[in-house]
Amino acid sequence: MNCVLELKSVAKFVDTCNQSWLKGWNERNGGNMSYRMKAEEVAEIKHLLADKSDWRPIGITVENLANEYFTVTGSGKFYMNVKNEPENNICIVKIDEKGENYKIVWGLNEGGVPTSEFPTHLLNHSIKKEKTDGKHRVIMHAHPANIIALTFLLPLEDKVFTREIWEMITECPIVFPAGIGVVPWMVCGSSDIAVATGEKIKQFDAVIWSHHGIFCSGEDFDVAFGLMDTIEKAAEILIKVMSCGGKKQFITSEQILALSEPYNVNIDKTMLE
Ligand code: 13P
Ligand code: ZN
Repeated sequence: MNCVLELKSVAKFVDTCNQSWLKGWNERNGGNMSYRMKAEEVAEIKHLLADKSDWRPIGITVENLANEYFTVTGSGKFYMNVKNEPENNICIVKIDEKGENYKIVWGLNEGGVPTSEFPTHLLNHSIKKEKTDGKHRVIMHAHPANIIALTFLLPLEDKVFTREIWEMITECPIVFPAGIGVVPWMVCGSSDIAVATGEKIKQFDAVIWSHHGIFCSGEDFDVAFGLMDTIEKAAEILIKVMSCGGKKQFITSEQILALSEPYNVNIDKTMLE
C-alpha cells in the first residue's frame, strides 16, 4: 500500500463523512466521527505513519484503549471538504500505553487537532468496547434537524423519545431495540457531556443531545450511519404528524413488542411503561 487513503476503512470513513454531509447533518464544521482501527489495518499502513505532533493529554484516562489507533475528524474542519481533501480534514491518532495521551500520526496536513469532542468519543469508545467485547468501532456525532427540533417539543426523557420515535416507523424498535437516551443541554466538548453521554451509552447505542444533535455508536460505519438515518427519518415523520394536527391513530405497545419474536430482537419493554 502506497497511500493511507487506499486503506478500505479510511476510504469508508471519508465516504461516510460525505454521505453525512449530503444528508444535511453537518453544516459548517458541525459533527464529528471516530473509528477504532483494527490491528491488521494499522499494520498495513504502519510504514506510512509518522509522528506529526507531540504526545498531548486526552484529558481523561481510557486504559482499555491503550496503544489503539483512531481515524478521526479534525476540529473546526468542514465536512463538506472531507471528500476532496481528506488529508487536510481528518487524521489518524495513536493512544499511548497508559490511555492518557494521544499523538497525530497521519493527516491534518494544513494543521489542526482532532475534534473538540475527542474526549467524549474516547470515553464512549472505551465503554462500548467493554460492553460489546470489542465489536463497536464507530462513533458518529451530527446535527440532524428533525431530531434537534423534537428536543424543543417533547419532554427530555429517554422513555418519551424512545416511545415516540419507535412508533413512527415499524422497523425502529427492530433497529434499536434498547431505545434512545436523552441528555439535557450541556456545554459541547465538556467533560460533563462526555460523562453524561457515557452513562447513557451503557444502555443505548444512540444518545440525543438536547438542542444540539445526536451521538451514535455502532459496529461499523453502515450500522452507525444507518442508526442515525433511521432515527432522523422517524423524527421527520413525527414533526410532520405534529405539524398536521397530531396522531389520529397509534401503534400500540403490544404491537411494538410483537416484533421481538419474529425479528429475534430483545425490545426493551420497560421503555414502554
Ligand atoms: P468540532 O469541529 O470540534 O468537531 O466540533 C463540532 C461539533 O459538532 C461540536 O459538538
Ligand atoms: Zn455538535
